[in-house]
Amino acid sequence: MRIITTESYQEMSLEATKIVAGQVYLKPTSVLGLATGSTPEGLYDNLVAVHRTIGLDFSEVTTFNLDEYIGMAPENPQSYHYFMHKHFFDLVNVRPENIFPDGCAEDVPAACKAYDKLIREKGGIDLQVLGIGRNAHIGFNEPDVKFEATTHKVKLDDETIQANARFFEDEEAVPRYAISMGIKTIMLARHVILLANGPEKAEAVKKAVCGSVSPAAPASILQLHQDVTVIVDRAAASMLPEEYQHGAHEIF
Ligand code: PGA
Repeated sequence: MRIITTESYQEMSLEATKIVAGQVYLKPTSVLGLATGSTPEGLYDNLVAVHRTIGLDFSEVTTFNLDEYIGMAPENPQSYHYFMHKHFFDLVNVRPENIFPDGCAEDVPAACKAYDKLIREKGGIDLQVLGIGRNAHIGFNEPDVKFEATTHKVKLDDETIQANARFFEDEEAVPRYAISMGIKTIMLARHVILLANGPEKAEAVKKAVCGSVSPAAPASILQLHQDVTVIVDRAAASMLPEEYQHGAHEIF
């Protein structure tokens, strides 16, 4: 695991941009795993800028999104599908068939199985982008998730519902269920970058980077992945050992 601690959200987004843009530049047919949420918005803005200024080409890239709310149609502005189109897909030359878990599937277990099969058929994920929840979830893999789970239906934690209420009219409107890539799906990605900013993520980052590896803190499993880069701002790094609060470090 490598950790890069930056001075600001903007710098965190730039570090992530270098990795994602480098991946696409070096392998134009890359398979990217993508995350929604406030954290990666700066990364997507930067990738759009790199596309527009120097023509970074996404035309051969395949994307898989981490998760989607159950019952949410793609055209619903609160769907993750809609978010990705608004912040990224509609602004670059990525192919129109970006791939999402089907939140409206009639047979959810079959849709989950098909999702993992499609990832395998596309050759697996080269680079997976992750945010982290205050409860250390990755994707919607909430505490006490089964590490061996592949893409599956999840019930959102109360803490996640409260955190995501900011995107809805009120807490009641937040869906209770989602489809999420499982921990196993995420762990099969060849390279993972985890982004976090702000003091409210400090405890989750500490658990992810130096806590016990346990389903109680789903992101802690990343300590066992062979190629993970954690990119955080100073506030999100504030509960880490002093040496990790500046600059870049190989942890082990
Ligand atoms: P956020 O969400 O980027 O909106 O903070 C991250 C997450 O819950 O995984």
